[in-house]
Amino acid sequence: MRFDVVTLFPEMFEAARLGVTGKALDTGKASLKLWNPRDYTDDTHRTVDDRPYGGGPGMVMMVEPLKAALQEAKAAAPGSRVIYLTPQGQRFDQMAAREMAARDGMILLAGRYEGIDERLVDCCVDEEWSIGDYVLSGGELAAMVIMDAVTRLLPGVLGHEDSAQQDSYMNGLLDFPQYTRPDALEGREVPDVLLSGNHAAIGKWRLKQALGRTWLRRPDLLEQRELSEEEQRLLEE
Ligand code: ADE
Repeated sequence: MRFDVVTLFPEMFEAARLGVTGKALDTGKASLKLWNPRDYTDDTHRTVDDRPYGGGPGMVMMVEPLKAALQEAKAAAPGSRVIYLTPQGQRFDQMAAREMAARDGMILLAGRYEGIDERLVDCCVDEEWSIGDYVLSGGELAAMVIMDAVTRLLPGVLGHEDSAQQDSYMNGLLDFPQYTRPDALEGREVPDVLLSGNHAAIGKWRLKQALGRTWLRRPDLLEQRELSEEEQRLLEE
């Protein structure tokens, strides 16, 4: 997976060098190239923004430096679509992550200030995505959210080959609770079934917990879902 990111704050992406994304970058399962629009300016102040036509607070990112940065990124990553991160975009979710993980790469465009000149969207953006109904100060964190969610789905990235499969949302349910040592802590004990070694009983308990939590916290998820045959069998056992 090839990630190209157009950003005024490339330093923020140091965070992607840690943890699961960091390991994917180290092992070549993903790559990350950063493009700073400021490097594509030709004035002494390296200007990338200006006041909005029509007035109003804040600044708007200018077309030229962004377009030049995008053009270089596109030349380096032919076939990658340009994704602009914006609260006006389509809502990103696990299904979108799965679809994106099947691609060879993507160019993530992170805006700052009040946004980018609409003419850049018209000429050079293929898709617009939002990570939720709130306003961030820039698209960088949204780009990193997408990179993280996509990278952990790439084959061979997670140590445990099926841990991505077992995650909440992969199967449309919230996760069951997890426990580790010690088995008794301040008077609270790990549920006996998890220490039983009975894998069928553990599977049944976990499914019930996942269903119960989903019913209590996210009933909307259950409306879109039916029990699989395997789940029905497990609950009947
Ligand atoms: N940029 C600012 N807010 C954002 C959001 N919620 N999602 C994606 N990009 C953003």
